[in-house]
Amino acid sequence: MTGAPSPDRRRFLTAGAAVLGAAASAQLWLPAAARAAEPPLPENVFSLGIASGDPLPDGIVLWTRLAPDPLAGGGMPDETVPVEWEIAEDERLHKVVRRGTAHARPEYGHSVHVDVRGLRPGRSYWYRFRAGGRISPTGRTRTAPHPHAKGGSLRVALASCQNWQHGYFTPYADMLAQDPDAVLFVGDYIYESAPSSSGPRRHEGKGEPYTLEQYRNRYAQYRSDPDLAAMHANAPWVVTFDDHEVDNDWAGEIPQDPDKQTHDAFVTRLAAAFQAYYEHMPVRATAIPDGPHIQMYRRLEFGRLVRLNVLDTRQFRSDQATSQAAAEDPSLTMLGARQKQWLLDGLHDSPARWNLIASQIMMAETDILPGDGKLWYYDAWDGYQAERNALLDDFASVRNPVVLSGDRHLTMISDLKKDFADPSSDVVGAEFVGTSVSSNGDQDQAAFHAQFDPLKADNPHWKVIDAHRGYHLFDIRRHGIDARVRVVDTVVSPQATARTLATLHVAADEPGVQVM
Ligand SMILES: [Fe+2]
Repeated sequence: MTGAPSPDRRRFLTAGAAVLGAAASAQLWLPAAARAAEPPLPENVFSLGIASGDPLPDGIVLWTRLAPDPLAGGGMPDETVPVEWEIAEDERLHKVVRRGTAHARPEYGHSVHVDVRGLRPGRSYWYRFRAGGRISPTGRTRTAPHPHAKGGSLRVALASCQNWQHGYFTPYADMLAQDPDAVLFVGDYIYESAPSSSGPRRHEGKGEPYTLEQYRNRYAQYRSDPDLAAMHANAPWVVTFDDHEVDNDWAGEIPQDPDKQTHDAFVTRLAAAFQAYYEHMPVRATAIPDGPHIQMYRRLEFGRLVRLNVLDTRQFRSDQATSQAAAEDPSLTMLGARQKQWLLDGLHDSPARWNLIASQIMMAETDILPGDGKLWYYDAWDGYQAERNALLDDFASVRNPVVLSGDRHLTMISDLKKDFADPSSDVVGAEFVGTSVSSNGDQDQAAFHAQFDPLKADNPHWKVIDAHRGYHLFDIRRHGIDARVRVVDTVVSPQATARTLATLHVAADEPGVQVM
């Protein structure tokens, strides 16, 4: 799948020749008589593109949303519309292995989430949709490796934080060229901020979104970025949200500004935001929101090579501390009791060589007070010291834990220490904070280094810190993870040049990360 596939990658692509299900030609969709009864839909009904996500060894979620008028609520009639789908083993869709008809319902914004099963592990598939006489672009996706597969390689791209107003999503053009097996997105898919004329692009609407229709329009605008749309169409995504999908720095049912949003109003806002999130993401029906609640923490398995634990560090957390002493209060929780136990069980029972933890927010310490004493950011894991420290203590008995996070709008790659208060404490894992796709725009690198380089002595666990826009790319194999920090020269124009800023290695059974 990459430019130069390794033998393992090639093996996944060519394993076996049997076609599951009835191979049929692409013409055999709905019978012509049934089609004649369909009302025609506008030509651009697939304006939001197509996507796939949450790969299983035998399944994948296929997504689209019918929206001929994407920035004005969608523009669909208030009725359920049949959407045919098909998935094939070849790019030209000649070897169709599964097909069916889904229903795009007005109560879900005419989104479609097809949970296809019966596929073969570790291989590429191509798919498309048809509705109202219109045919979608063809997308490509990939199933997870066989559950017993121990070897092979998995290429994962880590992305987060794409603020429309701060720039074009140019890192995705490079990501597409790197051809990952899966994209892991750890939050801030949209920003809820009001339109502003100060950046290269401007948010739609008149203010922050609060209603379902307003959130739908915001997602629709983001999906119109051509590099983002192309990346969705070419690899499965595994997504989770952070704060800006709802409201900056929200915690549980507490908004950023409780003096301005009442509890009831914020709960209504949460429900609208989660509904729109579900409608636009390639996730399973388990993520259909129940009012102001959505089930997003979950596990995905990539053979015996990788177990991916996707966290939800927003819905179950205590409100942020506001002082150093409060951040050490043992009653504060980031995950909530149930999710914490679920995570610990999943880490300790894991059959996988690598145990990845997708955390929206940074786990390693950031001490922003030069010299003696410490000063933390309270929205990150630093603000939930007791739970974070207990988790790091647990990492010592977990096989190869690696944390993949976002939020910081910086690349920060660190050793995870058992106890950050003790400089001689053991290294128990590694963390990659995957910068941002566009948030903070083209940052002043000299100003960043002037601020952060003096803090390196206070944070000796940092291996790489950087303020370029981009993403991280991981080639995961049995004996090690090769990581690359891919950065772009600009996000203020739609065209950019990408390069590798840093290359790192995490060796299996040797906690910590090495700069190569
Ligand atoms: Fe962000």
